[in-house]
Amino acid sequence: MEELQQVKDQIKTFVKECNDEKSLVLLDKLATGKMLRSKLVLKIAGVTEQSVKLCAVIEMIHAASLLHDDVIDEADTRRGQPSVNALYDNKTSIMFGDILYSKAFTELTSMPHEIAHTVSSAVTLLSIGEMLDVDLTDSFNSSYEKYNDMIYKKTASLIEASAKSAAILAGLPKENYALYGKNLGLAFQMIDDILDITQDSDTLGKPAMLDFVEGKVTIPYLLLHERLEDKSKLESLYKKELSNEESSWIKEMMKETNALADSIKLAKDLGNEAIEAVKDEKDSETLIFIMKAMIEREF
Ligand code: FPP
Ligand code: MG
Repeated sequence: MEELQQVKDQIKTFVKECNDEKSLVLLDKLATGKMLRSKLVLKIAGVTEQSVKLCAVIEMIHAASLLHDDVIDEADTRRGQPSVNALYDNKTSIMFGDILYSKAFTELTSMPHEIAHTVSSAVTLLSIGEMLDVDLTDSFNSSYEKYNDMIYKKTASLIEASAKSAAILAGLPKENYALYGKNLGLAFQMIDDILDITQDSDTLGKPAMLDFVEGKVTIPYLLLHERLEDKSKLESLYKKELSNEESSWIKEMMKETNALADSIKLAKDLGNEAIEAVKDEKDSETLIFIMKAMIEREF
């Protein structure tokens, strides 16, 4: 998409303005993702100089959060490519994250106050969400509320802020778009959690069924745990390297108890609520398309 290239060019311009050669080299090492947040902003606000800058700011914040997250998670791949912490080291990943993150905030100061406030508050939530995520891996979490609160903060808050800021830029009803963005984010994370179980490692670009091994009790596991009469076997597999037999057992039980199907249904319900919030707005077909494509995605 031509307009996504404009966002990438804007990010490069912002990084060039930092006057640091190494930052430009590091920027080149980042694998591009789906740019979901930019697609959303450009769809809602149209392609203008301001909206492209907003996209660049949001993508830089997102990239910074992933640079830090890969250190926290000790991940050596990102989007199927070596992560910066693997290519260089943890220090480089954190410091480059700080550069992207602070330059994004500098740029935010020249944007309308309400947008600056919306985006910067979301980054606080994002950071709290990451801490909750790490804390929730201490022991088996069986609270649906804690899981929901964590995925809202860690994933949905920045997508919600993206949609809301774009609506502010375009003079559209911001709360409807905020709800759309929030639910898109929640559903996105749930689909991610489902794909971790249903897809193979080649498709995912990382080992399959890794979440549970890493201590993450995601939505399909929460539902399965709730529905199993004898919970001891599932609990005993928590944070363990799974044998083929054990991972097949989990998948089988998720089918039998409808934990997988109902997780998909929860994501779809969130999607439908989001669609309801924007269906009377202009260009709502594309927002509906984005939501459907996200829910039906396979990686
Ligand atoms: C990925 O989660 C992580 C996030 C979406 C947010 C991380 C946020 C921070 C580290 C807060 C710091 C923020 C800034 C701007 C410096 P995941 O580990 O579940 O997903 P993954 O499989 O893609 O790594
Ligand atoms: Mg991670």
